[in-house]
Amino acid sequence: MHSRQKKGFPVSVLCEEALCRHIRGRTGIVIQDHQLENLRETISEICDKFGYASGEEFFDFLQQCEQYVPELEWLISRITVGETYFFRDQSQMDYLRLNWLPEIINRKREKGEKTLRIWSAGCSSGQELYSIAIMLHNALPDMESWTLHLLGTDINTDGLSRAIRGEYGEWSFRATDENIRRQHFIHKSHNQYKIKPQFRSMAKFSFLNLADDSYPSIMTETHAMDLILCRNVFIYFDGSMTMNVLKKFTNCLAPEGRLLLGASDMMPTAVDGLEFSEWGGMFYYRRADEKYSPQPLIKMPRKPQAITLPDTPSAPQLAAAERAEKLTPVSAAPVPAAPAEPKSIDTRIRELLREERWSEAIAAITQYMDIHGETSAMLQHRAKALSNRGESMQAVQLCQRSIELDPLNHHTYLIMALALLELNRMQEAEAALRKVIYLNRDFIEAHFHLALLQLRLGKVKSGLKSLENALSAAGRTDPGRELHHAVGMTVGRFAEVVKNEILVYDRHYGARSAGH
Ligand SMILES: C[S@@+](CC[C@H](N)C(=O)[O-])C[C@H]1O[C@@H](n2cnc3c(N)ncnc32)[C@H](O)[C@@H]1O
Repeated sequence: MHSRQKKGFPVSVLCEEALCRHIRGRTGIVIQDHQLENLRETISEICDKFGYASGEEFFDFLQQCEQYVPELEWLISRITVGETYFFRDQSQMDYLRLNWLPEIINRKREKGEKTLRIWSAGCSSGQELYSIAIMLHNALPDMESWTLHLLGTDINTDGLSRAIRGEYGEWSFRATDENIRRQHFIHKSHNQYKIKPQFRSMAKFSFLNLADDSYPSIMTETHAMDLILCRNVFIYFDGSMTMNVLKKFTNCLAPEGRLLLGASDMMPTAVDGLEFSEWGGMFYYRRADEKYSPQPLIKMPRKPQAITLPDTPSAPQLAAAERAEKLTPVSAAPVPAAPAEPKSIDTRIRELLREERWSEAIAAITQYMDIHGETSAMLQHRAKALSNRGESMQAVQLCQRSIELDPLNHHTYLIMALALLELNRMQEAEAALRKVIYLNRDFIEAHFHLALLQLRLGKVKSGLKSLENALSAAGRTDPGRELHHAVGMTVGRFAEVVKNEILVYDRHYGARSAGH
């Protein structure tokens, strides 16, 4: 076996190849031949810094370790390329400024829904997301009355720390109008400019590995996006990873949502659920209308007497049954369809929610409630689906109705808190999250969202404490169990998300002493 000697740390060719496969599996990043020398140097640095005798020893450790350990963080910071700058790619910026923004702003105003959700996936040190924040500032004279969610995520925690700091050198402004720099940045020192606090507070930065299944999810706040920018990230991935990520992005988009990739990224023209579109010679994806199955998902009973009610129906259930009796036309159809059992409808609704088929779930819940009346569970399900579609106001109202029927259901308070967060009703959201924790102190998701809320308000110390509470709650729970409100994410995986979140904030704010 050949082996290469670098600063005294041997790395065999086999180990090098295995490490490349490992990196690809874990992050989607394909190490090209010309990057191998850099990889070798990085392995040597890691051996030196973390005390491994050889590349093999480090690789053995890495394979056994599922967590995002400092060694892995070091490795990722060296193999990812964070090259970025403000207002990169003029044609895309023009599209957003001249076409997409005016159109969506009008549409949302007409609907009375002044919220926008934008995600920069692979945001590096944040220039892309801050460019959008500046654009929004210019496009929305009534910005104060809008709820704007700007999310930047990356796998490189160094980049995220720089994004949180928001301080940049001259080179980041190479495509930026001088006026923009003067108006929206503070000149700190020689060649260093800091984004003004109003833009800093508009953006939230988090760790998210695009190779993971942590999105779409309300937990990672990656749902119901009006716009996803994932530019110059796919160049590091292979075709199957690209398709995988595209599929997940599709499910993160709100109806009519847009996805923009980089000009050099691989851009398949046929992606299920996305329409490949063009504006002024620039290509982007538009979320295609949600597909409905041609057959009704729930077979409606033709004869009212076929409705199966629980043994002791509640008043609203009886009223609904009566309504159904009055409304259902007596059909002359020769063969009536098989009646649907309430339990099977309920199961189907849960399945639709699990599969994140929100519109179909809403239609099914409506059918259910038309027959059986409002129940706390169905109101809660409907609120969840609406919230995931970005219809937060209605979701809050439904949660309130559900709570009237069942005041001790902590899931309803959590769903309501998430919708309130979307609406920027922070105090009410905090009260709802505290209620969840009061009802169930092991509800990991509540601790996590309380932490995000506190961090968003700049309460770093309390935010970090709540993240630690989330970790402790995770420690008391079976790591293989799936989270209630994040399909596919296990408690163990979630603990990783929380640890990374702590890492990013800890690194930026130091020994947890800053903040409130
Ligand atoms: C060239 S930068 C692009 C920055 C910005 N989007 C732009 O176009 O200016 C690529 C970014 O993708 C990130 N990245 C690579 N693989 C990733 C993964 N698996 N998950 C999340 N981010 C990833 C890198 O860390 C890096 O910050």
